[in-house]
Amino acid sequence: MGVSILVVVLSYLIGSISFSYWITRLLKGIDIRMHGSGNAGATNMLRVVGKGPAIAVFLLDALKGVAAVGLAAGLSENAALMFLAGIMAIIGHNWPVFLGFRGGKGIATTIGVTATLTFLAALISGAAAILAIILTRYVSLGSLIFAAGLPLMIMLLNYPDSYFYLSLIITVMAFIRHFANIRRLLKGTESKLGASGGQQR
Ligand code: G3P
Repeated sequence: MGVSILVVVLSYLIGSISFSYWITRLLKGIDIRMHGSGNAGATNMLRVVGKGPAIAVFLLDALKGVAAVGLAAGLSENAALMFLAGIMAIIGHNWPVFLGFRGGKGIATTIGVTATLTFLAALISGAAAILAIILTRYVSLGSLIFAAGLPLMIMLLNYPDSYFYLSLIITVMAFIRHFANIRRLLKGTESKLGASGGQQR
Protein backbone atom coordinates (compact mmCIF):
# COMPACT_ATOMS: atom_id res chain seq x y z
CA MET A 1 0.00 0.00 0.00
CA GLY A 2 2.79 2.40 1.00
CA VAL A 3 4.66 1.62 -2.22
CA SER A 4 1.53 2.22 -4.31
CA ILE A 5 0.94 5.62 -2.74
CA LEU A 6 4.59 6.55 -3.25
CA VAL A 7 4.44 5.52 -6.91
CA VAL A 8 1.19 7.42 -7.49
CA VAL A 9 2.46 10.63 -5.88
CA LEU A 10 5.93 10.56 -7.50
CA SER A 11 4.46 9.76 -10.92
CA TYR A 12 2.10 12.70 -10.64
CA LEU A 13 5.04 14.96 -9.70
CA ILE A 14 7.12 13.66 -12.62
CA GLY A 15 4.22 14.41 -14.97
CA SER A 16 3.83 17.86 -13.47
CA ILE A 17 7.21 18.98 -14.83
CA SER A 18 6.04 21.08 -17.77
CA PHE A 19 8.94 21.07 -20.21
CA SER A 20 7.11 23.21 -22.78
CA TYR A 21 6.43 25.87 -20.17
CA TRP A 22 9.97 25.99 -18.80
CA ILE A 23 11.77 25.74 -22.15
CA THR A 24 9.59 28.51 -23.63
CA ARG A 25 10.18 30.63 -20.55
CA LEU A 26 13.92 30.04 -20.93
CA LEU A 27 14.13 30.66 -24.68
CA LYS A 28 11.57 33.42 -25.17
CA GLY A 29 10.70 34.66 -21.70
CA ILE A 30 6.99 34.05 -22.29
CA ASP A 31 4.30 31.74 -20.90
CA ILE A 32 3.41 29.30 -23.68
CA ARG A 33 -0.07 28.99 -22.21
CA MET A 34 -0.76 32.57 -23.27
CA HIS A 35 0.18 31.95 -26.90
CA GLY A 36 -1.02 29.88 -29.84
CA SER A 37 -3.56 27.30 -28.74
CA GLY A 38 -2.67 28.01 -25.12
CA ASN A 39 -1.60 24.41 -24.69
CA ALA A 40 1.56 23.50 -22.83
CA GLY A 41 2.68 20.82 -25.29
CA ALA A 42 4.85 19.99 -28.28
CA THR A 43 2.35 20.99 -31.01
CA ASN A 44 2.01 24.45 -29.55
CA MET A 45 5.79 24.65 -29.09
CA LEU A 46 6.09 24.11 -32.83
CA ARG A 47 3.73 27.05 -33.43
CA VAL A 48 5.17 29.38 -30.83
CA VAL A 49 8.87 28.52 -30.55
CA GLY A 50 10.02 26.27 -33.42
CA LYS A 51 10.79 22.80 -34.65
CA GLY A 52 13.86 21.91 -32.55
CA PRO A 53 12.35 22.87 -29.18
CA ALA A 54 9.09 21.16 -30.20
CA ILE A 55 10.88 17.88 -30.89
CA ALA A 56 12.80 18.19 -27.61
CA VAL A 57 9.57 18.81 -25.68
CA PHE A 58 7.83 15.90 -27.38
CA LEU A 59 10.66 13.54 -26.39
CA LEU A 60 10.92 14.88 -22.83
CA ASP A 61 7.15 14.70 -22.32
CA ALA A 62 7.14 11.11 -23.61
CA LEU A 63 10.05 10.35 -21.29
CA LYS A 64 7.93 11.40 -18.30
CA GLY A 65 5.58 8.52 -19.12
CA VAL A 66 8.48 6.10 -19.47
CA ALA A 67 10.01 7.32 -16.20
CA ALA A 68 6.77 6.89 -14.24
CA VAL A 69 6.28 3.36 -15.55
CA GLY A 70 9.96 2.61 -14.88
CA LEU A 71 9.62 3.89 -11.32
CA ALA A 72 6.63 1.63 -10.69
CA ALA A 73 8.40 -1.34 -12.29
CA GLY A 74 11.41 -0.73 -10.07
CA LEU A 75 9.35 -0.75 -6.89
CA SER A 76 6.68 -3.33 -7.66
CA GLU A 77 5.79 -6.19 -9.97
CA ASN A 78 2.16 -5.15 -10.14
CA ALA A 79 1.33 -4.53 -13.82
CA ALA A 80 -1.78 -2.49 -13.01
CA LEU A 81 0.29 -0.22 -10.75
CA MET A 82 2.71 0.38 -13.65
CA PHE A 83 -0.17 1.46 -15.88
CA LEU A 84 -1.62 3.57 -13.07
CA ALA A 85 1.77 5.27 -12.64
CA GLY A 86 1.62 6.17 -16.33
CA ILE A 87 -1.86 7.59 -15.89
CA MET A 88 -0.67 9.67 -12.94
CA ALA A 89 2.13 11.10 -15.09
CA ILE A 90 -0.46 12.04 -17.74
CA ILE A 91 -2.65 13.64 -15.06
CA GLY A 92 0.39 15.57 -13.81
CA HIS A 93 1.13 16.73 -17.34
CA ASN A 94 -2.45 17.86 -17.91
CA TRP A 95 -3.01 19.40 -14.49
CA PRO A 96 0.48 20.23 -13.10
CA VAL A 97 0.68 21.13 -9.43
CA PHE A 98 3.61 23.45 -10.15
CA LEU A 99 1.68 25.58 -12.66
CA GLY A 100 -1.71 26.15 -11.12
CA PHE A 101 -3.08 22.92 -12.64
CA ARG A 102 -3.00 24.38 -16.17
CA GLY A 103 -0.89 22.15 -18.41
CA GLY A 104 -1.09 20.16 -21.62
CA LYS A 105 -3.21 17.51 -23.29
CA GLY A 106 -1.13 14.49 -22.38
CA ILE A 107 -0.59 12.83 -25.74
CA ALA A 108 3.22 12.72 -25.78
CA THR A 109 3.22 11.38 -22.22
CA THR A 110 0.57 8.84 -23.22
CA ILE A 111 2.83 7.74 -26.07
CA GLY A 112 5.67 7.22 -23.57
CA VAL A 113 3.45 5.18 -21.24
CA THR A 114 1.86 3.00 -23.89
CA ALA A 115 5.04 2.49 -25.92
CA THR A 116 6.58 1.10 -22.74
CA LEU A 117 3.70 -1.09 -21.56
CA THR A 118 1.67 -1.92 -24.66
CA PHE A 119 4.10 -1.35 -27.50
CA LEU A 120 2.13 -3.01 -30.29
CA ALA A 121 -1.12 -1.26 -29.37
CA ALA A 122 0.73 2.07 -29.31
CA LEU A 123 2.40 1.30 -32.62
CA ILE A 124 -0.83 0.46 -34.45
CA SER A 125 -2.81 3.36 -32.95
CA GLY A 126 0.17 5.62 -33.62
CA ALA A 127 0.35 4.54 -37.26
CA ALA A 128 -3.37 5.34 -37.71
CA ALA A 129 -2.80 8.71 -36.03
CA ILE A 130 0.20 9.59 -38.20
CA LEU A 131 -1.75 8.66 -41.32
CA ALA A 132 -4.61 10.94 -40.23
CA ILE A 133 -2.16 13.79 -39.58
CA ILE A 134 -0.48 13.33 -42.97
CA LEU A 135 -3.84 13.31 -44.75
CA THR A 136 -5.50 16.19 -42.84
CA ARG A 137 -2.61 18.09 -41.21
CA TYR A 138 -4.67 18.22 -38.00
CA VAL A 139 -2.45 17.05 -35.10
CA SER A 140 -5.41 17.11 -32.74
CA LEU A 141 -7.35 14.70 -34.96
CA GLY A 142 -4.35 12.36 -34.93
CA SER A 143 -4.16 12.66 -31.14
CA LEU A 144 -7.83 11.76 -30.79
CA ILE A 145 -7.50 8.79 -33.15
CA PHE A 146 -4.48 7.61 -31.16
CA ALA A 147 -6.33 7.94 -27.85
CA ALA A 148 -9.47 6.25 -29.17
CA GLY A 149 -7.49 3.44 -30.77
CA LEU A 150 -5.57 2.48 -27.64
CA PRO A 151 -8.29 0.63 -25.67
CA LEU A 152 -9.45 -1.06 -28.84
CA MET A 153 -5.98 -2.33 -29.70
CA ILE A 154 -5.25 -3.24 -26.07
CA MET A 155 -8.40 -5.37 -26.08
CA LEU A 156 -7.79 -6.93 -29.49
CA LEU A 157 -4.16 -7.74 -28.68
CA ASN A 158 -5.12 -9.46 -25.42
CA TYR A 159 -3.20 -7.34 -22.96
CA PRO A 160 -4.26 -7.74 -19.30
CA ASP A 161 -7.87 -6.71 -18.58
CA SER A 162 -6.62 -4.08 -16.14
CA TYR A 163 -4.76 -2.38 -19.00
CA PHE A 164 -7.95 -2.21 -21.03
CA TYR A 165 -9.97 -0.61 -18.22
CA LEU A 166 -7.18 1.80 -17.26
CA SER A 167 -6.64 2.77 -20.90
CA LEU A 168 -10.27 3.94 -21.01
CA ILE A 169 -9.30 6.59 -18.45
CA ILE A 170 -6.55 7.78 -20.81
CA THR A 171 -9.01 7.99 -23.70
CA VAL A 172 -11.58 9.93 -21.68
CA MET A 173 -8.91 12.36 -20.43
CA ALA A 174 -7.62 12.92 -23.96
CA PHE A 175 -11.11 13.73 -25.25
CA ILE A 176 -11.81 16.05 -22.30
CA ARG A 177 -8.53 17.91 -22.90
CA HIS A 178 -9.23 18.16 -26.64
CA PHE A 179 -12.73 19.53 -26.18
CA ALA A 180 -11.84 22.92 -27.72
CA ASN A 181 -10.00 21.19 -30.58
CA ILE A 182 -13.05 19.00 -31.29
CA ARG A 183 -15.23 22.09 -31.43
CA ARG A 184 -12.80 23.77 -33.85
CA LEU A 185 -12.51 20.61 -35.95
CA LEU A 186 -16.29 20.49 -36.30
CA LYS A 187 -16.42 24.18 -37.21
CA GLY A 188 -13.49 23.82 -39.63
CA THR A 189 -11.41 26.40 -37.73
CA GLU A 190 -8.75 24.12 -36.24
CA SER A 191 -5.25 25.22 -37.24
CA LYS A 192 -3.33 22.84 -39.47
CA LEU A 193 0.19 21.58 -38.92
CA GLY A 194 2.62 24.12 -40.35
CA ALA A 195 0.08 26.97 -40.32
CA SER A 196 1.17 29.96 -38.31
CA GLY A 197 -2.39 30.50 -36.93
CA GLY A 198 -1.57 31.22 -33.33
CA GLN A 199 -4.78 32.81 -32.14
CA GLN A 200 -7.03 29.91 -31.41
CA ARG A 201 -7.15 30.09 -27.67
O1 G3P B 1 -1.35 16.80 -28.43
C1 G3P B 1 -1.84 18.08 -28.54
C2 G3P B 1 -2.49 18.24 -29.86
O2 G3P B 1 -3.37 17.18 -30.09
C3 G3P B 1 -3.23 19.51 -30.01
O3 G3P B 1 -2.44 20.58 -29.62
O4 G3P B 1 -1.83 22.94 -29.45
O5 G3P B 1 -3.16 22.15 -31.40
O6 G3P B 1 -4.22 22.26 -29.16
P1 G3P B 1 -2.96 22.06 -29.89
